[in-house]
Amino acid sequence: MTSKQTTVKPWAGRFSESTDSFVESFTESVSFDKRLAHFDIEGSLAHVKMLAHVDVLTDEECQHISEGLLQIRQEIESGNFKWQSALEDVHMNIESALVSAVGEVGKKLHTGRSRNDQIATDLRLYLRVIVDQLCGQLVSVQSELLGIAEQEAETILPGLTHMQSAQPITFGHHMLAWYEMLKRDHQRLRDCQVRIDVMPLGSAALAGTSFPIDREFSANLLGFDTVSSNSLDAVSDRDFVIEFVSACSIIMMHLSRFSEELVLWMSPQFGFIDLGDAWCTGSSIMPQKKNPDLPELVRGKTGRVYGALMGLLTLMKAQPLAYNRDNQEDKESLFDVIDTVQACLQAYAGMLPTMVVKRPAMLEAAERGYGTATDMADYLVKKGLPFRDAHEVVGKAVHFAIESNKRLAELSIDELRSFSDDLEEDVYAVLELSGSVAARDHTGGTAVKQVQAAIQQARDYLASLN
Ligand code: ARG
Repeated sequence: MTSKQTTVKPWAGRFSESTDSFVESFTESVSFDKRLAHFDIEGSLAHVKMLAHVDVLTDEECQHISEGLLQIRQEIESGNFKWQSALEDVHMNIESALVSAVGEVGKKLHTGRSRNDQIATDLRLYLRVIVDQLCGQLVSVQSELLGIAEQEAETILPGLTHMQSAQPITFGHHMLAWYEMLKRDHQRLRDCQVRIDVMPLGSAALAGTSFPIDREFSANLLGFDTVSSNSLDAVSDRDFVIEFVSACSIIMMHLSRFSEELVLWMSPQFGFIDLGDAWCTGSSIMPQKKNPDLPELVRGKTGRVYGALMGLLTLMKAQPLAYNRDNQEDKESLFDVIDTVQACLQAYAGMLPTMVVKRPAMLEAAERGYGTATDMADYLVKKGLPFRDAHEVVGKAVHFAIESNKRLAELSIDELRSFSDDLEEDVYAVLELSGSVAARDHTGGTAVKQVQAAIQQARDYLASLN
């Protein structure tokens, strides 16, 4: 059987005029909320089963409705379903198709339910799955970062503050910084999933229903952790969407920072990395160009995700209880956020393995930056000089080295000793980049063996997630 839908609105009884065509197109949401169809049907299947369980429907009625819903689900999945904007939204499209498919009994589906608790349920079912998908994508990018960190555990580059050479670090350590940010992003999503995993179904329009429903029974079927405690709150608040989008905004903020670094590193002025040809694009006018468009676009797309967050906060801010149609405006921006973040994580998972790390350029930059000046000051402190005095001595030595166009380690011992008698031959060891890195040997430090230990810990952590 193929369902043939009518365009008679389920709420037509109260009305004596047909809807203005502008109103139809202004109010419709099916063009975008059809994305929720799978979850809408899942919710309806659980709802009718529950109604049969509490004897509001007979088992036979439940079976007919369920078969009809499954058939509609198949039509939708195979692309044969005809969506009609005159039927407003995903819920009424499916309900109308159900009545066409199974006849009068289909009209019983909506017993004890409202589109208000239905849409809130659909969104939560959908977001629960999306969070799982995003977490999986984050783990893929994190694993790539750990792979690079391992390969480059000993690669030295200048660590920057204020975009100026500060102290030498390892590239592995730098990659682990990104790993940590994504780890918290993953935790934030899982945390938000706890508040998504609450079932509004049964709240009906706003006050609950007069039918003897068993909400725990439906929640159990749908795999919800818990049921909502207040019907007004459950149909009206979209804080779980806002929380999800803010977690996504923070993911984008991190990816945007990362992107900024990739763009800088790939510029000839840095020359620290290259990205695979297949993951870059060229210029239509300048034949020499190979541009890091992917990181640039990720950086750019961060704006639309932040914009969605601001839009959603504003959408919610002045709504009185309970449900208002304003809430329909949450979906397009939410869907755009999901598509954007998923695409950006896909970009990173694909692009990172093509990254070529140019170790000599990194090393050369580290040698240029007087990055071991702090090590020289620490050396003097260990000889008994107060840190402030040591800072002053080394500052003068750096000034002299810059004037004579030399690295600190290229100054003769006599030149060095002209700044302090405490400087002896063994100071050259601490002026070496590798010595400086190795000295930061504590949890969270950049020493190679700390980086290797952190990689192992991170691997164990990721493995424990499954
Ligand atoms: N399309 C609506 C939304 O997205 C569904 C609920 C509509 N309820 C109503 N009474 N008009 O929020």
